[in-house]
Amino acid sequence: MQLESSYPFPNGMRTNNRLVLAPLTISASLAGGIVSDEDAAFYRRRAGSAGLLITGSAYVHPLGQAYADSFSVADDDKIPGLAKLAEAMKSQGNLAILQIYHGGRMVPATLIESQPVAPSAVAAEHGEVTVPKSLSNTQIEELLQDFLAAIRRAMVAGFDGVELHGANTYLIQQFLSPHSNRRQDKWGGTLNNRMRFAKTLVKRARQLIDQESPNSFLLGYRFSPEEIEVPGIELKDSLALIDQLIRLGIDYLHVSMDHLWQSSLRKTEENTPVILAIRDKINGRVPLIGVGKVRNAEDYKEALKSGIPLLSMGTSLLLEPDWLELYRSKAESEIRTYLDEENLADLALPQNFVRDYGSYYSKP
Ligand SMILES: Cc1cc2nc3c(=O)[nH]c(=O)nc-3n(C[C@H](O)[C@H](O)[C@H](O)COP(=O)(O)O)c2cc1C
Repeated sequence: MQLESSYPFPNGMRTNNRLVLAPLTISASLAGGIVSDEDAAFYRRRAGSAGLLITGSAYVHPLGQAYADSFSVADDDKIPGLAKLAEAMKSQGNLAILQIYHGGRMVPATLIESQPVAPSAVAAEHGEVTVPKSLSNTQIEELLQDFLAAIRRAMVAGFDGVELHGANTYLIQQFLSPHSNRRQDKWGGTLNNRMRFAKTLVKRARQLIDQESPNSFLLGYRFSPEEIEVPGIELKDSLALIDQLIRLGIDYLHVSMDHLWQSSLRKTEENTPVILAIRDKINGRVPLIGVGKVRNAEDYKEALKSGIPLLSMGTSLLLEPDWLELYRSKAESEIRTYLDEENLADLALPQNFVRDYGSYYSKP
């Protein structure tokens, strides 16, 4: 069965099936962003649910924290907790990836008790946001160092790789976006300059990994193909970025979209799924991870048939960690698709998560 066949990354590592646990921020960490027992329990329960498990995003600098009670990879004192997380995630023989990010202008000022930083002093058009402070050139260099230090910590903690979170309007995406990046120096202006932060980061990360952990640590990149803002990221910008990231040695690309088969958010007259343009651009050079409302095996088969080799599931594995097991044993009708009281303990969902989102995931 193709869904259960293993798949290689360019560096020779393999995932043992085509399922990926999408990154999910579950807001259960301890003060200062330390991994809690609830964090570890959530991921231990999902070990084996997919071949590749990706953590919710960990912030690389305290000013980059966009969610309360999320975990940090900003200091060495976070390594023991992260090591606990990596061990829990890998306990069934699958790969574990740490997603790393900085929230930039999407960080609530109230959370960090400071003005957020971003490529330019332009506020986002949505969310609980303020006008950010524009980063100096020196601060941009420091941020790149923060990301590299985070990658080193992920290695020490025992993860099999990192995913650079270049999606969902956070800082890496903010450099690419002509809405959030109005700089006129080498970090902004032309598309090539707006790509410079992502390119520099991937180039340096590749060098670090090749030095420290050659062929045994993955470097992934997640991106949102388009933005709705005007000006904003267009699909052609993302397709150009893909070429650059592959050239610089990325090990996989992971899209972030609401629906796997969605068409352009910007060119609403077009109805071709955006993922197919991305698939064609990548042209098999690196694995592509698709995402978005994948709920059952039929969705999976359709995606694999159309040449998308890996698919991540967020909601489905949040609500049913035994999805693959039930699919294997042909008991798909038993797959849970909503939360109910009786299941809560079995799902190892953190208390705060259930308090804040329990009703959202309950049966209507
Ligand atoms: C509770 C929750 C937390 C999320 N946290 C993250 C995150 O930390 N990083 C990220 O890239 N995406 C995050 N996402 C997006 C998911 O990775 C995924 O792309 C999205 O849920 C769509 O997939 P699905 O339809 O299978 O749930 C989150 C989604 C949810 C529902």
